[in-house]
Amino acid sequence: MLAMRGQVIKLSHLLRRSARGTPVLNEATRTCPLQQSNIRNMSSASKPKVYVTNYDIPKKGLDLLNKSCDVVQWQSRETITREQLIKNVKGIDALFCILTDKIDGTLLDACGPQLKAVGTMSVGYDHIDMKACKERGIPVGFTPDVLTDATAELTVALLLATSRRLMEGAGAVRSGEWGMWNPQWMCGQGLHHSTVGIFGLGRIGLAVAKRLRPFGISRLLYSGRKENPAAKEVDAEFVSFDTLLRESDFVIAGCALNSETKEIFNEDAFKKMKPTAIFVNSSRGGVVNQKALYDALKSGQIRAAGLDVTTPEPLPTDSPLLDLKNCVVLPHIGSATVEARNAMAELTARNILAALNGEQMPCQIE
Ligand code: DGY
Repeated sequence: MLAMRGQVIKLSHLLRRSARGTPVLNEATRTCPLQQSNIRNMSSASKPKVYVTNYDIPKKGLDLLNKSCDVVQWQSRETITREQLIKNVKGIDALFCILTDKIDGTLLDACGPQLKAVGTMSVGYDHIDMKACKERGIPVGFTPDVLTDATAELTVALLLATSRRLMEGAGAVRSGEWGMWNPQWMCGQGLHHSTVGIFGLGRIGLAVAKRLRPFGISRLLYSGRKENPAAKEVDAEFVSFDTLLRESDFVIAGCALNSETKEIFNEDAFKKMKPTAIFVNSSRGGVVNQKALYDALKSGQIRAAGLDVTTPEPLPTDSPLLDLKNCVVLPHIGSATVEARNAMAELTARNILAALNGEQMPCQIE
């Protein structure tokens, strides 16, 4: 019954039971200090209703919510449709969502005026209409910091996989294309002595820069809306977007997606890059004009690209990008470590619980 597709189920029914049949929480939940200090005991009659839009949320987050809330969770492996979401959120006190859910005025109104909090299990919040939330006085929580290391690691992995042609090399082993050792076969491009340009030196951009410094890069450039004082830590120079494009051997998109950055990596931008440039994107697919990227890769205007994010997601298997040897595409796994995803779920739950208790969320979007 629990596994039936599209069915919603009360998660309080899924709690582990003690010998006497009373629900008990796991060790992690019992020892979490924030859990103990922050959550007011609510009688079952007054338990707030929290709707969770995805079936695959780490248990650590759900356990926190279950202690004091009535949690209802989407149970299908298929992403919840807009229609289902609008239907299921009626009367809830808080919404636990992910980056594939569009949160706008229509959805907030469908929840009803009793809605007190939205928590997204992501650092990016381009799927949320913040103006609509502000107009309705709904605080929105997100998950910065806890996924920074995981995402920075993946960005570096993608950069190396692309520049040193790891996927092509591994493919050649499997296909039998691997012949005797040849001096110029499968040569890529090293990081040593290179210039790296990061567009958007925020938390993740900075963490990427820190990881790249030990590779012996010569220059680290960054651009964005404004200078970041923390750039000193990695000896990064603030430059214009044009300079970053023209002078970098590696161009990394680390910016958020918003009206200013939408498709900022377009035909014009790729034209300004070096013909040997490698472009890496682990932020949002929407910052790239994908047709322009395809053309730039196909024509040799730039050397290669590594993408952890695309438009749309999932990228259709017949996307022309997937026919290119000089393009490595990963399925949006930047934050996909067990630790990071657990921490993201826990922080989302803590954000929601704080708002339900009338307190400031630990990580609230301003
Ligand atoms: C986020 O949190 O915004 C990431 O894209 C998910 O890894």
